[in-house]
Amino acid sequence: MEKWFRMAEPFKIKVVEPIKPTTREERSRAIEEAGYNVFSLRSEDVFIDLLTDSGTSAMSQDQWAGMMLGDEAYAGCRNYFNLRDAVKEITGYEYVLPTHQGRAAEHLLMHTMVKPGDVVPGNMHFDTTRGHIENSEGVPADLVIEEGLHPQTRLPFKGNIDTAKLRRVLEDHRGRVPFILLTVTCNNNGGQPVSMQNIREVSAIAKEYGVPLLFDVARFAENAFFIKEREPGYQDKSIKEIAREMFSYGIGCTMSCKKDALVNIGGMIATRDEALFRRLQPWGIVYEGFTTYGGLAGRDLEAIARGLREVLDEAYLYNRVRQVRYLAERLLEAGVPIVEPPGGHAVYLDARRFLPHIPQSQFPGQALVVELYIEAGIRAVELGTNAFGSVDPKTGEPVHPPLELVRLAIPRRVYTDRHMDVVAEAVISVFKRRDGIRGLKLTYEAPILRHFTTRFERL
Ligand code: F0G
Repeated sequence: MEKWFRMAEPFKIKVVEPIKPTTREERSRAIEEAGYNVFSLRSEDVFIDLLTDSGTSAMSQDQWAGMMLGDEAYAGCRNYFNLRDAVKEITGYEYVLPTHQGRAAEHLLMHTMVKPGDVVPGNMHFDTTRGHIENSEGVPADLVIEEGLHPQTRLPFKGNIDTAKLRRVLEDHRGRVPFILLTVTCNNNGGQPVSMQNIREVSAIAKEYGVPLLFDVARFAENAFFIKEREPGYQDKSIKEIAREMFSYGIGCTMSCKKDALVNIGGMIATRDEALFRRLQPWGIVYEGFTTYGGLAGRDLEAIARGLREVLDEAYLYNRVRQVRYLAERLLEAGVPIVEPPGGHAVYLDARRFLPHIPQSQFPGQALVVELYIEAGIRAVELGTNAFGSVDPKTGEPVHPPLELVRLAIPRRVYTDRHMDVVAEAVISVFKRRDGIRGLKLTYEAPILRHFTTRFERL
C-alpha cells in the first residue's frame, strides 16, 4: 500500500451522530448521581465513549444495504445461509449456530460440554466465559505466559499460553478436560495477540492428549494482523490465509460478533464437528431460538456475514491497529504508565503506577476512571479492584487482584485521530494533577458481577 493510503482512515464518513457538549459542573453532578460508576451514566452525557469496543462499531454502507435484505422467516432465512457461507470461507467450519451475542455461544458450549469438576484450560478466559464454565461447575484455568501478566514487558505475543503449564494441567486432569479454549486476541491482559507458533504447539499437545481445541475469536482479525506484522514467515500471506490457518488447528470457535464482525449485536458457534453441532443444536433452540436465527433478526445475520468478510481488509486492520498505537505512543511520550506493547483494541492505563499513593482498598483504577470523565467527558472502564476484587470467605478480608488497570477501548471506525488527541491530552492533564487525586469508598455492591452497579463516595 502506498504511504498516502496508510496515512488516513480508509473510509469516508457518510452518516454522523452529533455529540452534545457538557460542562465540568454538569459532569461532576452526573458522576456523583451515578455513584461514581460510569455504567450508571447516560451515554448522552459522554463525549468520547471508550467503555468498550463491543457492539459499538460503525457499520459500512454494504452492511447497511444488507440490512434491507433481511429475510425474517422463522426458519431457513437466506441470511443464515449467507452467514454460513462466509463462516465456511473464512474458518473452514461447516456448522454454524448463531446466538444473540458471544456469552450466549459460551453458554451453549459449556452447557453441552462441561461437566461438574471438569477443568477448562485457556490463555485467559474472558469474564463471561469464566462465568459460564463455573456455572456448569467446571474450573477455568488461565495459563497465559508469565510475561503476559507484566505490564512493562515488551513482547510481540503476550497472549500466548504457557505450553509447559498446559501439559501439566492435561496430565493432572486426564479425562477431565473437555476442551482447550484459546482467546485471540487475549482481552483480559490488554488485547495481546497469540502467535501461530503457539497455536500450532497447543494444537499438537491437544492432539497428543486427545482433547479438542477451540478458539474464542471475538478479535480474530486483529490477531491475524499482528501475526502478519510480527511473526516470521507471514509477511506475504493475506489476513484470510492467516485466519484460515489458525482455524485449521481447531475444531471450532465461539465468537462475539460485536467485535471483529463489525456489528452492533450477534454471536455464534462454528465447528467442523457434526456430532458436536448436533449436541449443541437443541440447546440453541431452547435458549436462543431456532438454528437459522439464534435470537437475531435476519438482517442482523446479513450484517454479520458482510462484516466478517470486510474485517479481513488489510487497509482497515492497518488503520485500526495504527490508531490504538497512536494513542499509546502519545501517552508514553508524556510518561503515562500503560500496558506495553499496546494490543489490538484498547490502551490500558496502569493505575497502580499512575496513582501510587492510593492503596488498592481505595480503588485507584475507579478513581482514575472518575477523573477522566470529569476532566473531559471520557468514559473508560476499570479492570481492577472494582471489577475483580473479592472477599476471602474465611477471613472476611478483601482480596485485591494482581493488576489495577483502566481500559480505553476504541470502537471500530467511530472516532478519528482528533478524538484520540483529546483523549491523550485529557489523560495527560489528569496525570499532571495526579498527586491531588483521592480514592473512593464503596457504599453499595451486588453479590455477583458487582462492578456494573457498585456505588462509591469520594474520600
Ligand atoms: N469473549 C471475549 C474475548 C470478549 O471480549 C467478550 C466480550 C466476550 C467473549 C463476550 O461476548 O459481550 O458478545 O457476550 N467483551 C466485551 C468487552 C463485553 O467489553 O470486552 P458478548
